[in-house]
Amino acid sequence: MKVLVTDPIADAGLDRLREAGYEVETAYDVEGDALLDAVSDANGLIVRSGTQVTAEVFEAAPDLVIVGRAGIGVDNIDIDAATEHGVIVANAPEGNVRAAAEHTVAMGFAAARSIPQAHTRLKNGEWAKSDYLGNEVNGKTLGVVGLGRVGQEVAKKYHSLGMDLVAYDPYIGQERAEQLGAELVEFDECLSRADFLTVHTPLTPETEGLISTDELETMGSGYLINCARGGVVDEAALAEAVESGVLDGAAVDVFADEPVSPDNPLLSVENVVVTPHLGASTSAAQENVAVSTADQVVAALREEP
Ligand code: NAD
Ligand code: MLT
Repeated sequence: MKVLVTDPIADAGLDRLREAGYEVETAYDVEGDALLDAVSDANGLIVRSGTQVTAEVFEAAPDLVIVGRAGIGVDNIDIDAATEHGVIVANAPEGNVRAAAEHTVAMGFAAARSIPQAHTRLKNGEWAKSDYLGNEVNGKTLGVVGLGRVGQEVAKKYHSLGMDLVAYDPYIGQERAEQLGAELVEFDECLSRADFLTVHTPLTPETEGLISTDELETMGSGYLINCARGGVVDEAALAEAVESGVLDGAAVDVFADEPVSPDNPLLSVENVVVTPHLGASTSAAQENVAVSTADQVVAALREEP
């Protein structure tokens, strides 16, 4: 049986598949007909966020049993088409939560203290000490939109840094929020009270474009951090809000279209700090998700639970 891997995963996951006796084919960055051809005799497919697993992919893969997502978000996989074709979709919901939360905290500080901007100028020989007056997180309010695994971990970390917490998540109980020291509030209140707003929802039809011009104006000031999914925050609206001074800054790890095009409006705004979808990119997280995904693929191919 063959397992096709179309986005790079840690060697530990590939080894696990080989040790279980499967042929492992890696074909990174394939798309279009090359992807359809590669998947045509695959029994398992493993992806991260790079590969778009569309209905066409399922049609081209009659022997496919499982798509393993070495990470959390499954918005790049057509779940309805998978169901129609009887293919299991399994993600790795735990392995990169800490990595994503740590990156979110780092991005908050990067934006509030202009670390990348000052770094670039100093590397270019410029001592721009008097150009940067940052903001502290201590004593400020963090608004968390989406209080799931990553959102909760981020809330804990910022709380320990002296922040008050408000959160909006229509699917989580008051009791859980209180255990974290967070006040569960309505969406608009979360926006208006947040000095730092951090987004941790999945990308779904309900959350697509959740934060746009009106919502950023409700925030009125402060910083927006998006290490969840690009489509949740309207990029043009965010760029405009920072450029015009509605917000003090933003930090963005994820984009509606990745890899991001050079004319994306967020790239040209000085107070927007960006990283190329690095939230889960630590060696521990990548090993965790690769092994967990490989184990699920092996179990599915062996018809085990
Ligand atoms: P999760 O499923 O544990 O939590 C998501 C939370 O969002 C849930 O509590 C859910 O109730 C809430 N939610 C759903 N719809 C909502 C809405 N309309 N408004 C407010 N809340 C809503 O997911 P997670 O593991 O915490 O991951 C969160 C996000 O982070 C996902 O989009 C995931 O893909 C992304 N992620 C990104 C990276 C990265 O590399 N940048 C790494 C890991 C996860
Ligand atoms: C995720 O949803 O887990 C992230 O997109 C991480 C990734 O695979 O890059």
